[in-house]
Amino acid sequence: MKKSTKLERIYTSGEHLPRGPRFGDIFNVDIVDIDEKGRGLAYLKVTVGPQEEKRKYTFAVRSGVPGDRADIRVTNSHRKKREARIHRLIEESPLRIRPECPHADPFAERMCGGCSLQSVGYENQLLLKEKFLKKLFENRGLDSAPIQSMLGMSSPRYFRNKMEINFGESKKFDIGLGMHPPGYHYEVMDHETCLIGPKPLIEFIEKIREWAIASELVVARREEGTLQAIGLRIGFQSVAIELIVSHEIAPELVNSLNVLVESLFNNPSLAVTVLKAQRGTPTTRKSTHIRGPLKWKETLVVRGKSYDFEVSPGAFFQTNSLQTGLLYESILNEVDALIENEKTSIWDLYCGSGTISCVLGEYFENVVGIDIIEASIADATINADTNGIEGCTFICADAHEIFNEKGVPDIIVVDPPRGGLTPKVISLICASRISGIVYVSCNPKTLVRDLIMFEEGGFSMEKVQPVDMFPHTFHMENVVRLRRG
Ligand SMILES: C[S@@+](CC[C@H](N)C(=O)[O-])C[C@H]1O[C@@H](n2cnc3c(N)ncnc32)[C@H](O)[C@@H]1O
Repeated sequence: MKKSTKLERIYTSGEHLPRGPRFGDIFNVDIVDIDEKGRGLAYLKVTVGPQEEKRKYTFAVRSGVPGDRADIRVTNSHRKKREARIHRLIEESPLRIRPECPHADPFAERMCGGCSLQSVGYENQLLLKEKFLKKLFENRGLDSAPIQSMLGMSSPRYFRNKMEINFGESKKFDIGLGMHPPGYHYEVMDHETCLIGPKPLIEFIEKIREWAIASELVVARREEGTLQAIGLRIGFQSVAIELIVSHEIAPELVNSLNVLVESLFNNPSLAVTVLKAQRGTPTTRKSTHIRGPLKWKETLVVRGKSYDFEVSPGAFFQTNSLQTGLLYESILNEVDALIENEKTSIWDLYCGSGTISCVLGEYFENVVGIDIIEASIADATINADTNGIEGCTFICADAHEIFNEKGVPDIIVVDPPRGGLTPKVISLICASRISGIVYVSCNPKTLVRDLIMFEEGGFSMEKVQPVDMFPHTFHMENVVRLRRG
């Protein structure tokens, strides 16, 4: 392959370029926006080549903040939206702050991939996410969408109830344990602190790393080695730990890990999972429960009431328990706005462990939760019982099949995975007598795509409520109320 030679000087908008931007070229730009991955967006308007064609190039700049003026170096010119990194920061954006976590420093040699937005103060993070959301809706023709201010956290620290930490190569230790810096597959950060993980995370990492070094096991790399990752789930009520390895490990090592986790937490559960992911064969996952309760337990507070939930290993549960209370209050508010009386029937489609169904069941008599995973439906049935919720029933079914089997409800709540709803589910909802939808989404892109189809299918959007479930990252959750007609 022919290697590109860099441009001889740094060009800026309004100038003439001998050719289009390539890997290694440096441009002087203003960062004006932010993209769906939280990268700064810069535009370069130039004329190019002997024909002096007018061109506009878009760059996604890692660690760029709107308001920065910078020289950026192109790292990937093969996409329509070219990728770049800051080569020299010429003028700092007024939004920039010094990240509180040293591992989130965007100009360090390697930064932790966990918190890409820490260079911006929390209040401004919320405004940036809101601005991004409004632009996304406008670009797809949904300009009049009633988007509300984002509901943030009063103290956006130590909020994650779940972390998966990777074994890998370390600068300091024989075995590393931490997050991969963006762009690195084998190296991991040596964390001294973490602002978003649960409070005991750093001590947990240190002790598990000591155990791993003493075990003489080798970090998994391609098809060699054993140690892959360790998962930690910490709730108000219980702790679950899952060691992920490529092969079974000796019983003495399982024993020593068992003794260690018992010394760190009160009655934690421990599972060892053999995860085989080889090219050309389907990934397999075999978990062995070693100690402690089989299920993880967590408490959520919604409108002042506490709900206790238990969750099977591997099943979905929101990662920010405190903010989930606020998210579920938003869902309740939107259901309230659609409902005619407490007899109105509601489906909670994609219900997982029945958390939303139980909260709805506290207020409404006729709630049906539906999920494709049998273990989740079993959890949901127990959860309704534990919380004394009588108005809820649960069905294990595929969302695509359920519309044929059951008479449809008056109102539907949908909380699908990141990929959003399928066109088939949307058309089934549109063709039914359902009069109102509350759409809960963790992916604005697929949400907007699906909202367009709902509008074409006869629904109108009454409210979009963004909720910040993931501070310091560019992820967000949205609750949308739609009414027929
Ligand atoms: C984002 S989670 C929502 C869980 C739950 N609402 C909560 O707040 O904890 C998505 C859920 O959709 C379920 N799911 C995925 N595909 C499905 C399908 N085709 N039919 C029914 N449920 C499905 C998954 O098992 C998962 O529990």
